[in-house]
Amino acid sequence: MAYQIPRGTQDILPGEVEKWQFIEEKAREICKSYQYKEIRTPIFEHTELFLRSVGESTDIVQKEMYTFEDRKGRSITLRPEGTAAAVRAFVEKKMHVQPEQPVKLYYIGPMFRYERPQAGRYRQFVQFGIEAIGSNDPSIDAEVISLAMELYKSAGLKNLKLVINSLGDPESRKAHREALVNHFEPRIGEFCHDCQNRLHTNPLRILDCKKDRGHELMASAPSILDYLNEESKAYFDKVQSYLSALAIPFTVDKNLVRGLDYYNHTAFEIMSDADGFGAITTLAGGGRYNGLVESMGGPSLPGIGFALSIERFLAAIEAENIQLPIKEGIDCFIVTMGEKAKDRSVPLLRDLRKAGLAAEKDYEDKKMKGQFKSADRLKARFVAVIGDDELVKNAAALKDMETGEQKEISLDELAEYLKQKL
Ligand code: HAM
Repeated sequence: MAYQIPRGTQDILPGEVEKWQFIEEKAREICKSYQYKEIRTPIFEHTELFLRSVGESTDIVQKEMYTFEDRKGRSITLRPEGTAAAVRAFVEKKMHVQPEQPVKLYYIGPMFRYERPQAGRYRQFVQFGIEAIGSNDPSIDAEVISLAMELYKSAGLKNLKLVINSLGDPESRKAHREALVNHFEPRIGEFCHDCQNRLHTNPLRILDCKKDRGHELMASAPSILDYLNEESKAYFDKVQSYLSALAIPFTVDKNLVRGLDYYNHTAFEIMSDADGFGAITTLAGGGRYNGLVESMGGPSLPGIGFALSIERFLAAIEAENIQLPIKEGIDCFIVTMGEKAKDRSVPLLRDLRKAGLAAEKDYEDKKMKGQFKSADRLKARFVAVIGDDELVKNAAALKDMETGEQKEISLDELAEYLKQKL
């Protein structure tokens, strides 16, 4: 029987994986300059963690989690996102006592959501995300957004759209929530089953409903922006002025609510508006979560972060037809003629590799022509040929495949010579 990969997952093969590595390296570089440090948390957590943070009424918790009982009957869930675990670790490891605050963290790793697979939507996907925990300075909101934009731009993306909103503080949200209930309640019977449930659990989520998107009450729904109290409004204004100072263009969308419950104040998404990008245009999403640390049993500290998936990042790169500057090829291929030369190539190859060169040889007893073909396929910059004549002189005939230049080089000096040349 031939096995098949599970639906909504991917094998990333050599040839493709280099693009992933490129983005991961860029992400790490940018995090270094912005001073975010990597955190690695488990791929599974106690289910309770996600119920409490992501929220019981969200699609993620209601429909999308990979939840199972372990052998001792504990409910375990494969992480659907990274914020909950980062905050759990922050609280559990008492990171608030570290001298440098806010604590700035990043992660890259697989997340799991049981969604209907389609272009840009997988059941296992890789998120890169950052979290800044412990600061209420609006400049950190702008910094988080700036880091995300810079990462996309570093890969050459141009068709980016940044959308922001404020979800306000608890007081503003309470007032808005009441207005939403009053707005929808009289005609809630015209809405889908999910929305009917959301009316009293989380009316804000009605605004995010895909099924009822076209209902006339949606467009006329009260906007959170009209319910922001002075403090929330001032905070949002400051975030916008910092974005302008950083020359990051944005639009305010009062309907942006995000699909997770822990948000307040700043919420944002970055979309691609490239032609040819699929139906799912959101590349990244994030926002502030000022009550989350405390609700996880920690001190009352604010936080903000975002996450993007590498899958959608790569889809955007493809939609914009961008060739990533990925270095191809190897430094040297050793071609041998005869048994003795073949034996000599074993320690020689080791020496080249030890010197940090990317080097390869034939393992299939190919004829010389076949070996040269391999060197071509591997895009070798240099080919070192060793035959009986060369062996007598302890040398190789070295050919520079770029210039066509040929030269005899002592085997003992080959590694050093190549290093100088490359
Ligand atoms: P999220 O909006 O659920 O937020 O996901 C963030 C990003 O993950 C999305 O914009 C998208 O790029 C990617 N993503 C989500 N689901 C899938 C999927 N099924 N297939 C491919 N990509 C997907 C969060 O996860 C929050 N934890 C972000 C955050 C961090 N907020 C504050 N800190």
